[in-house]
Amino acid sequence: MISYADVIVDLQAGDTGKGKVAHALAKEPKRYTHVVRYNGGGNAGHTVYHNDNKFVTHLVPVGVFYGIKSIIGLGCVINIEKLVKEINELQENGVNVKDYLFIDERAHIITDSHIEEDSKDTTIGTTKTGNGPCYRDKYYRKGTRAKDVPFLYPMLIDIYKEFHGKEWCTILFEGAQGFELDIDWGDYPYVTSSHCTVGSAVLNGVPPQSIKNVYGIAKAYRTYVGAKQFEGDDPIFETIRELGQEYGATTGRKRQVDWLDVNDLIRACNINGVTELIINKLDILEDAGSLKFYYNGELRNAHDIKYFQELVEMYILNECPSVMGVKFSVTPYAI
Ligand code: IMO
Ligand code: MG
Repeated sequence: MISYADVIVDLQAGDTGKGKVAHALAKEPKRYTHVVRYNGGGNAGHTVYHNDNKFVTHLVPVGVFYGIKSIIGLGCVINIEKLVKEINELQENGVNVKDYLFIDERAHIITDSHIEEDSKDTTIGTTKTGNGPCYRDKYYRKGTRAKDVPFLYPMLIDIYKEFHGKEWCTILFEGAQGFELDIDWGDYPYVTSSHCTVGSAVLNGVPPQSIKNVYGIAKAYRTYVGAKQFEGDDPIFETIRELGQEYGATTGRKRQVDWLDVNDLIRACNINGVTELIINKLDILEDAGSLKFYYNGELRNAHDIKYFQELVEMYILNECPSVMGVKFSVTPYAI
C-alpha cells in the first residue's frame, strides 16, 4: 500500500471549526498513522470536544486524543514555555500527550524578544504571540530551530523517514489560521505570517500526488479578528456573535462578523483543490433568523435553511471542479 495524506484547510479567516473536523477524522479507527500541524504556532486556538470535555489546543495536533503519533511540522513556530504548559494541561486532564507528541527538527523557535516585539503591534491586530517576528527571522536566516534546542531533542523527528520509510503511513494534516489570513492570498497586510493553503502541508516533504482528500472548512457566515474594519452594518451580526460564541479561543477578542461570500469560497476551494467542503454553524444563522449570503456582489436572502443549502451547494458544485461533496454541519459536535 502506498502512503498518502489528507489535508484540512480553513477556507476563511480562521475559526471555522477545523479543530472539530480534525478531531472527528482522527477518531476513525486505523485511518491515520500520523497527524501533523503544518503552519502557525500559539496564535491558533482549536476547540475540541473530547469525551464531553472542552479542550482548546494551540500547537498540539488532535492525534494525541486518540493515541496517534502527532507532529508539530516544519512550517510551525514554537514557544517552548507555552508548549510545555499546553502539554501539562492536557496531561492533567487525562490526555496522554507525552508518548505521542513529536516535533520536526526544522520547526522554528519563538524567543522572548519575538514576543516583546509582537506585543507592540498596533496595526495588524496580531495575537501578540511572537509569530510574525519569528517567521521574519526564519526567512532572514537568523532563526533558532528545534534541532538547536537540547531540551527538545527527545521529541525530535524527521518526517522524511516517517512518510518515506518502510512502514505504511497515512497523515492527516491539520492546518491553522485560514486561507484569508494566508501571507500571499490573504488581505495583506491583515494576514498572518505563514502559508495557510494546502501547499503548506506539501512543504513537509510529502509529494503532491500523495494528497488524497482535501477537507475545506468554512462557516455559514464569516468572522475575522484583527485591526481592519470587517463587520457589516446590520445589528444582526451582534446576535450572530452571541449565538455563535464568536470570541477568540486564544485571545478572547470579539470576532467581527459578516455574511458568507460564496465567490470568495469558490476561489478558496479552487486554489486549494478542495474535495470535500464542510460548512459549519449553519444552525447559528437559522437561530438568528437570517439566512443571507453574498453572491456576485449581491446580498441574497435564502429564507429557509434548505434553500440556503441548495443554493450554496449548487454554486459551489457548478464552479469548483475538484469539490465532490458539500456537507453542512451544526454546532458543536459531529461533522
Ligand atoms: P485558528 O487556527 C483567527 C489573526 C490575528 C490577526 C492576524 C495576524 O484558531 O483559526 P498573528 O498573531 O498570526 O501575527 O496575527 O491573524 N489570527 C487568527 N484569527 N484564528 C486564528 O487561528 C488566528 N491566528 C491568527 O487575529 O488578525
Ligand atoms: Mg481558532
